[in-house]
Amino acid sequence: MSSSLQTRAALVTGAGSGIGRAIAVALAGAGAAVAVADLIPERAAETADLLRSQTTAPVLALHGDVRERAVARQWVEAGHAALGRLDILVNNAGLQHVSPVQDFDEDRWDQLIGVMLTGSFLTIRYALPGMLEHGWGRIINLGSIHSLVASRFKSAYCAAKFGVLGLTKTVALETAGTGVTVNAICPAYVRTPLIENQIPLLAARHGIPESEVIARIVLPNCPLGRLLEPEEVAQSALYLCSDAAAGMTGTALTLDGGWTAQ
Ligand SMILES: NC(=O)c1ccc[n+]([C@@H]2O[C@H](COP(=O)([O-])OP(=O)(O)OC[C@H]3O[C@@H](n4cnc5c(N)ncnc54)[C@H](O)[C@@H]3O)[C@@H](O)[C@H]2O)c1
Repeated sequence: MSSSLQTRAALVTGAGSGIGRAIAVALAGAGAAVAVADLIPERAAETADLLRSQTTAPVLALHGDVRERAVARQWVEAGHAALGRLDILVNNAGLQHVSPVQDFDEDRWDQLIGVMLTGSFLTIRYALPGMLEHGWGRIINLGSIHSLVASRFKSAYCAAKFGVLGLTKTVALETAGTGVTVNAICPAYVRTPLIENQIPLLAARHGIPESEVIARIVLPNCPLGRLLEPEEVAQSALYLCSDAAAGMTGTALTLDGGWTAQ
């Protein structure tokens, strides 16, 4: 059994920040060639530079909006063209918006569902044929604790993330026995800009000071009592790419600090 990814190539969406960047670093550290894709070109370039400073494996920076079919297709095609193959797909791009459902901005709803659910469908749709052809593939979708349980004011996020888990399980069944595995990683709160950006809105929604959001809203659900670090999530992604995880497909790999044990 091997966990070296030296012959593998990966595409990581939303790799310009937080968890996606940590996963790209971990995959490159294990020897994979990595295409880092993000909405913000500067962020993709920054991650690519970071990888180049740490690895000799080929690195590619891509940008665009994963909601657009042409963009998702181009990322997969560019990955194949520049890296020679695409064995690992990490659907990580995402964002949050918190609001009571009756006030939820309709465009924000479309954006959250579009990025996290439709975007994941599109990249899988375009990347899977190459994996099936090679008889090996790893599709890792970033779900969330909110793929498993809901929280108030997060209707679009929960709808998208529950959907991501449904997509994961369906594609896992369709690919079982082909050498391709499809799994979701479902973390509780991770220390990234996505959480930091929610603090003012959560404070307003719950009527508490910003300084109390982590202690009063975020951590009470999580018996572990701390935020997870992006690198901890990246280690789960590495595990799912390893030979040791070849029998694991259609799973929600939950890193919830005990949230769902309650
Ligand atoms: N941070 C957490 O607590 C947490 C917990 C569970 C799951 N997740 C999930 O992990 C993933 C990464 O989150 P993060 O916390 O690292 O967030 P982040 O905000 O640090 O990074 C998200 C990245 O996605 C990119 N992105 C947003 N919209 C995009 C689009 N339309 N096309 C392409 N890229 C786009 C952003 O530019 C950003 O670089 C998300 O799917 C998120 O839902 C996060």
